[in-house]
Amino acid sequence: MIPHGRTAPHRRAVLASGLASGLVSGLVSGLACAMLPAAGSRAQAEPGAPSLAALAAKKGILFGMAVTAEQVGLMPPLAAIAVREAALLVPGVELKWSEVEPEPGRFAFADADRLAELGRRHGLALRGHTLLWHEALPAWVAATNRDAMPAVLRRHIREICRHYAGRVQSWDVVNEAIQPGPDRSDGLRRTPFLETLGDSYIERAFDLAAETDPAAILTLNEYDLERDTPWQAQRRQAMLNLLNRLVRRKVPVRALGIQGHLDARRGPLDPEIFRRFIRDVASLGLEVYITELDVIDRDLPADIARRDAEAARAAQAYLTAALAEPAVRMVVTWGVSDARNWVDGNPDMRRTDGLPSRPHLYDDAFRPKPLRAAVADAFRAAPVRPAP
Ligand code: G3I
Repeated sequence: MIPHGRTAPHRRAVLASGLASGLVSGLVSGLACAMLPAAGSRAQAEPGAPSLAALAAKKGILFGMAVTAEQVGLMPPLAAIAVREAALLVPGVELKWSEVEPEPGRFAFADADRLAELGRRHGLALRGHTLLWHEALPAWVAATNRDAMPAVLRRHIREICRHYAGRVQSWDVVNEAIQPGPDRSDGLRRTPFLETLGDSYIERAFDLAAETDPAAILTLNEYDLERDTPWQAQRRQAMLNLLNRLVRRKVPVRALGIQGHLDARRGPLDPEIFRRFIRDVASLGLEVYITELDVIDRDLPADIARRDAEAARAAQAYLTAALAEPAVRMVVTWGVSDARNWVDGNPDMRRTDGLPSRPHLYDDAFRPKPLRAAVADAFRAAPVRPAP
């Protein structure tokens, strides 16, 4: 979405020191910690309240949460919330190219495997994010020439999909492929994959993933598709053109992921425009997932009660529109708790007044916020999906 500082070695160092001190080992390796509920259990956010996964499931919607190995390792309460609220986990950073294949042909699955194991032990599905993205890309990939790129791409996708074959509900095959500009009429983003392989890199990636893990639902994942602005209208059109082309060519794409980082600065939301776009996607025979829901609160009031109320209202309006469309079959939040949240780690996204961001459903002391209630209310109000 926007460039992030690459400090993965530091993250590894934190994890490694946590492991060395025994802080992380109980949870992250094994993840059989007594602090977590027993496999399959669904403890409640408040006494008597059903989990978000249960509320969503009643309507035929899969509810998931993104977590990182670092968060889970350092914050046992966060892991406990994720396994009781969600029916699906998404590794938030561990499957990106820079993490999973930092050097040519050297695959590092340990962190993602720990999260996959956490989910498996608690009966949660696993979603893969992401096979191809122009960010979190090692310099050696960006420097690969057109002769070498086909083999580099094949090895990357095959190795990862083979490792998780049969265990992944869905894969974000290509993340953020759209960026309309004056130089290309198709609106595709200029990435090292596009520059070396042309627009066929997208179908090549989908074909490789489908061959290696035929059970996974393969998706394109994208941001800035829902708001009522000329820029986002242009992006919607570019995405529809791309999806049309892929479907016509029988590329095995089955869903569009709409990220859903809610940010007032990005323009107003007209529910009808958003819903029409979802219907246009559905008319191609595709499902729609909301894949990275959170609230970028940089323009919201400093006062916490007012800020949380506005964030909750924004999420409820967004989900009410999206969930009115039966094609929307999944909602994933891009985090669990405000503690160590990604927004504060991103200088372009965090608040300028120095206050901590509050993008997620639980606060930094792991208490449910109005945002959680808004998501729960949206699931309660959603129509039941017809069986697929
Ligand atoms: O873990 C270290 C931490 O120990 C250290 O203190 C900190 C200092 O900067 O860095 C931490 O690592 C960061 C990591 O997030 C923490 O989880 C990396 O630098 C940072 O690059 C990484 O950023 C992630 C980013 O994707 C790039 O991978 C964000 O967490 C993650 O939320 C973000 O997710 C993207 C989706 O993949 C695609 N859509 C947009 C979304 C938000 O930008």
